[in-house]
Amino acid sequence: MKRIANEAAAGAAQRADSDPGFSGEVIRWQKQHGRHTLPWQNTRDAYRIWLSEIMLQQTQVAAVIPYYQRFLARFPDVASLAAASIEEVMAHWSGLGYYSRARNLHRCAQRVVAEYDGVFPKDPELLTDLPGIGRSTAAAIAAFAYGARTAILDGNVKRVFCRVFGIDAYPGAKPVEDRLWQRAVALLPQNDIEAYTQGLMDLGATLCTRSKPACPSCPLAQRCIALATERVHQLPVRKPKKPVPEKHVAMLVVTDRDEVLLQQRPGSGIWGGLLSLPEMDHTSPEEADLAHAVAPFGEMAMHERLLPFSHGFTHFKLHVTPYQIRLAKRLQMAAQSSHVWYPVARLADAPLPAPVKKLLLALFAEPDLLSQ
Ligand code: ADE
Repeated sequence: MKRIANEAAAGAAQRADSDPGFSGEVIRWQKQHGRHTLPWQNTRDAYRIWLSEIMLQQTQVAAVIPYYQRFLARFPDVASLAAASIEEVMAHWSGLGYYSRARNLHRCAQRVVAEYDGVFPKDPELLTDLPGIGRSTAAAIAAFAYGARTAILDGNVKRVFCRVFGIDAYPGAKPVEDRLWQRAVALLPQNDIEAYTQGLMDLGATLCTRSKPACPSCPLAQRCIALATERVHQLPVRKPKKPVPEKHVAMLVVTDRDEVLLQQRPGSGIWGGLLSLPEMDHTSPEEADLAHAVAPFGEMAMHERLLPFSHGFTHFKLHVTPYQIRLAKRLQMAAQSSHVWYPVARLADAPLPAPVKKLLLALFAEPDLLSQ
């Protein structure tokens, strides 16, 4: 018993010796397999690093490279950028998208010149106070330019953490994100912060990709909970969809001889400008409600509830209960009414919403319905 316990302890001690830990694996892998020749690497120039980090915030490396090079050729340092007009800055950003980045870039350059004598501060807290620099961008600048030991957490790094640590919650939710930041700080290595920071970015961008992760090549595969539990494609958890609001209406299919009562819809809103069936907000109107609703058009002779149907819009779901109503005595309509009597025979070509047209064509495909 004692011997076994000793062996186990020795094994653990040996593993602790040879296991470089999470950050050690990342650093070792970055040095051997990571990216080393991107245009913004191999420099300590905070201006160049800052510029690249801003351009890379919402844009892929391949798209950024030509913009980065043209931008640097025109604005080689923070002073030249601060002195330029916003129009010229925008012209050099044109095509890269997310233009608030360019406006913030210009403002940031002017503040660095005015407040820091043209030298980007080293303290990530001071960096985050500048326009366009969030916590992760500040950490990347501080690490790459000054070797500061601070944690990054961009979208790629979140994906790596969610998979490796098997985090089963949406990483954009505040409490989950807070925990991810705590983890990011706790994992920081004592040395080699540049290789570690670049390694996390490289892993997320080249191996631990969203849809085609290259797990067999990953230095973290041994410790990846998502891989061990076959959840690599389920993690990170996607943003939960907001429940779509639901709306219930009754639609009136009012017929008189071979005509059906339609109503012009208002120009704005759903089905704007189309003809449709008159609607009631009631979900289950009583006979008296129906009679009252059709009173301006005639006397209700018969009514029948038809099969309900639903229609999905981008922002809500509409549940429709159609009611068929036949009139006994049609009344003269007011001249300015938005209602029209429409020949059933012409419904196929009428400007109707698709689900309404479908209902009416199905209904009037039964000729008996009209003659009853
Ligand atoms: N994405 C964000 N920062 C980056 C960097 N420094 N290198 C490559 N991709 C990045």
